[in-house]
Amino acid sequence: MNVLLVTPASAGSHKGNRVTALRWAKILRELRHHVVVAGAYRAGKWDLLVALHARKSHAALVEFQTQHPGVPAVIALTGTDLYEDAAASPEAHDAQARASRLVVLQPLGAEALPAPLRWKARAILQSVPRIERRAPSADAFEVCVLGHLRDVKDPLRTAEAARLVPAHSRLRVLHAGEALTPKWAERARAEMAENPRYRWLGALSRAEALELLARSRLLVVTSRSEGGANVISEALAAGVPVVSSRIDGSVGLLGADHPGYFPAGDTRALAALLQRCEEEPRFLDELTTRGARLAPLFDRASERAAWQQLLDELSGAFQRDVAAGLDARPRHLSCRYFYDPAGSRLFEEICALPEYYLTRAERQLLEDHAPKIVAKVPAGVALVELGSGSAVKTRLIIDALLRRQPRLRYLPIDISPAALQHSARELERDYPALDLEPIAAEYEAGLRALDERLPAQPRLILWLGSNIGNLDRDQAGRFLATVRARMTAHDRLLVGVDLRKARAVLEPAYDDAAGVTARFNRNLLERINRELGGQFDPLAFAHRAHYDERLGRVEMYLVSTRAQEVPVRALGRTYAFAAGEALHTENSYKYSPEEIDAVARAAGLSVEARWLDREGRFCECLLKP
Ligand code: AVJ
Repeated sequence: MNVLLVTPASAGSHKGNRVTALRWAKILRELRHHVVVAGAYRAGKWDLLVALHARKSHAALVEFQTQHPGVPAVIALTGTDLYEDAAASPEAHDAQARASRLVVLQPLGAEALPAPLRWKARAILQSVPRIERRAPSADAFEVCVLGHLRDVKDPLRTAEAARLVPAHSRLRVLHAGEALTPKWAERARAEMAENPRYRWLGALSRAEALELLARSRLLVVTSRSEGGANVISEALAAGVPVVSSRIDGSVGLLGADHPGYFPAGDTRALAALLQRCEEEPRFLDELTTRGARLAPLFDRASERAAWQQLLDELSGAFQRDVAAGLDARPRHLSCRYFYDPAGSRLFEEICALPEYYLTRAERQLLEDHAPKIVAKVPAGVALVELGSGSAVKTRLIIDALLRRQPRLRYLPIDISPAALQHSARELERDYPALDLEPIAAEYEAGLRALDERLPAQPRLILWLGSNIGNLDRDQAGRFLATVRARMTAHDRLLVGVDLRKARAVLEPAYDDAAGVTARFNRNLLERINRELGGQFDPLAFAHRAHYDERLGRVEMYLVSTRAQEVPVRALGRTYAFAAGEALHTENSYKYSPEEIDAVARAAGLSVEARWLDREGRFCECLLKP
């Protein structure tokens, strides 16, 4: 995409926006987009606008939308523009209303928006560089306050709290930040003269401020309102614990159950909290370990994955497919949209259900047969996986391969960068002999990328988990043929296929007693609500799973329990459902051994070997060209 990234030039107070804009430009370039950073609208052939600050970018947004009607425009609400009220800034509000999506810097940012706009908000946490923690001062309990001196930051609250701690306390408050008005400079100096525990250091360079942070026992945030303080991310990345006023901007980053909050403006409560941090090492340790657990949220990879997710959404595929599916009769939605973060979590839960035998059967099968399976592939293979998901079963193959070869290249291909990142990180940690090269792409594009990366090496390609079941038999044949087209005579394809069996086993597997599959199915409606501003009442749709024995497939539906009308904002329409009307959401095909042979043959592949689990429910097929 050609991306115009607008960051309005402004003096002093919002240097932060420029840092953010430059980092985002870099991330978008890493995602292979072309980015121009500008201070205002610039003519060009753009596919996307990203603009920081609703009010200051209003003119650029209006111009962009005039020149590029229908092209997506993202506005990032970086701080004050999130909280500005409509009367004070009609431009900010108009910009929020016009934007296709609103980026907020912490998950609770959306709450500050008017209710009808909340669906547009997407949180992208700012990544920060990792900072080494330094040894703290030995002769004092030094805590730091980092931030400009202005009203909204309540800048002298920590100093005032420090006056209330007992005489034996060694608490010292170091405060870095520029006074934005002469009044605040005067007050800080006056406080310093009277309060021996307080030192105002004035404006520090970024490097100096980070150095101060890294050797502080604690970061103290006293703001009355905040868009998502970057200092908090920096502290967590450095392993420095945080004490903060209980405001959305902090709760969004630290979590509701963080133990280090005090009510904004409450000097006594802050004093008590600081005293506790100094006197109870276990409390301070708890703040530190909780903070450390959050650190991965602020790494580059997470920020990049969040952008990728947002760009995928803006490509409009989901919106177009939902519109087409709701216009069709009978209505349908595509099962590929089940797997947003909430849906992926629910699918993990499904895999552990007593009724959902597939995952257990396949795992057991691989536990029993992985060595025999890998014995059939040439030595020194690279491992490729289509739709890696949670790589638990893959580990069994990896273990078997690493018993035969000292190193292994592993190239998982998945459309979800978040899922890839997650499983890659864990595999990397557990397998030092693995060379991991994740490919975030649709299967076919991913397979094409293989030729560049593995020109001569034989490959074992995995397509596990009965993912083939979501395709009808013709599509399955065609898809296998596209994989076949990328294979040499030495390559092998291992496909996990669920077998035909009794209805009494199949239907409960897709309609479990605990209702997890029902929630998984309804999540599709919730996703329309979240991403497209839909107003589905998910509970007004019943979950149905039906096995069609002739077609050999389990069909899933959402059935409207009553006549109802459902507006979907992003589609600008309201959809009427009759009582009992069914929305088709998934097919899950089951195979007989003959059907597997047929589909492989149609693709120019033959079944070299197959293994069943002990109860004959699931089959692993090794296919060769
Ligand atoms: C991921 C496609 C294999 O069809 O069994 C599970 C998805 N749907 N429960 C399957 C699914 C409902 C699953 N696959």
